[in-house]
Amino acid sequence: MRLMQHKKEAYWFYRYLSIFYDKLVNPLFWTERMRESSLDEGHWEDGEKLKVIDVGSGTGFTTEGIVRRVPAANVTCVDQSPHQMSHARQKAALQDCTFQLGDAENLPFPDDTFDRYVSAGSIEYWPNPQQGINESYRVIKPGGWAMLIGPLEPKQAFSKFVANTWMLFPPDEDYKRWYLEAGFVDVHYRYIKPHWQENEHYGISIVGRKLSSGKSPNAAAVAARSRETSLVNAEQEGMTLGRGVLMAGRVLVGSTAGFLFIPMALVGYVTAPLRGIPGPYEPLNREQKLVLAGLGLLAVGLLARALRR
Ligand SMILES: C[S@@+](CC[C@H](N)C(=O)[O-])C[C@H]1O[C@@H](n2cnc3c(N)ncnc32)[C@H](O)[C@@H]1O
Repeated sequence: MRLMQHKKEAYWFYRYLSIFYDKLVNPLFWTERMRESSLDEGHWEDGEKLKVIDVGSGTGFTTEGIVRRVPAANVTCVDQSPHQMSHARQKAALQDCTFQLGDAENLPFPDDTFDRYVSAGSIEYWPNPQQGINESYRVIKPGGWAMLIGPLEPKQAFSKFVANTWMLFPPDEDYKRWYLEAGFVDVHYRYIKPHWQENEHYGISIVGRKLSSGKSPNAAAVAARSRETSLVNAEQEGMTLGRGVLMAGRVLVGSTAGFLFIPMALVGYVTAPLRGIPGPYEPLNREQKLVLAGLGLLAVGLLARALRR
């Protein structure tokens, strides 16, 4: 399993990332335009009446798109990170939402509770993605739709290696297979990307409909497999020092990789016109400009030092 595809590691990663998540992460990797284009696939007719669950809701960026389509009082946000959730709770548009800490792979709700399920950018951290998708099936009512938004495996060899070492970046066949195995029908999808990316298949928004009530038809098989994994995990967790050191190492390396993606993406962002990527370009915010200015100063400093030698 990848460095950050673990619940505890993801918890610690977001303990710190949540501080600047809205300012530096989403505006680069999960923009408003991507969010709106994804959510447009979600079957929002009769929006006033729909009860929605947003899983891995984080700081509430996707939830802000959901409450444009249904009343905030009908929306339940679930995340395992109290730090991410505390930012969502402060947003004016989300004041009427319900917030609940919980695990995407074991949602704290009875079968057939919601009309729509949305999860954006969270599957990367789920140790057992099929179990998470089965949960999306279980908690929606018959006739309801579940939407999952996630990154795709990069095509270029080096990016693919880095992505796969870091988190879960599945190929699109995996998303489709997980949806079909969970029991969804009428599965359809759309590819998404931020403007500065050349790769048209950067991310996917996949949607499926549940027909009959209750759990996913493959729930028993997947639960048995996941019991085996949790036994292995429990045994590993028994070695507290070993497990602790391993986790700290993963969080450190995984977080460093995560934080390095931000300046790399910013450079990609500003060089997009030079690489012939057509606009319209989304404007940079103040924090992004500050990081870019810092990068510029660093480059000038390094150049001056090299010239002095
Ligand atoms: C990249 S953020 C996406 C947040 C939000 N959906 C958005 O659109 O900005 C991923 C979120 O998934 C949450 N997460 C990761 N694993 C989870 C799990 N097993 N159960 C619930 N939330 C999880 C993290 O805490 C984090 O807030």
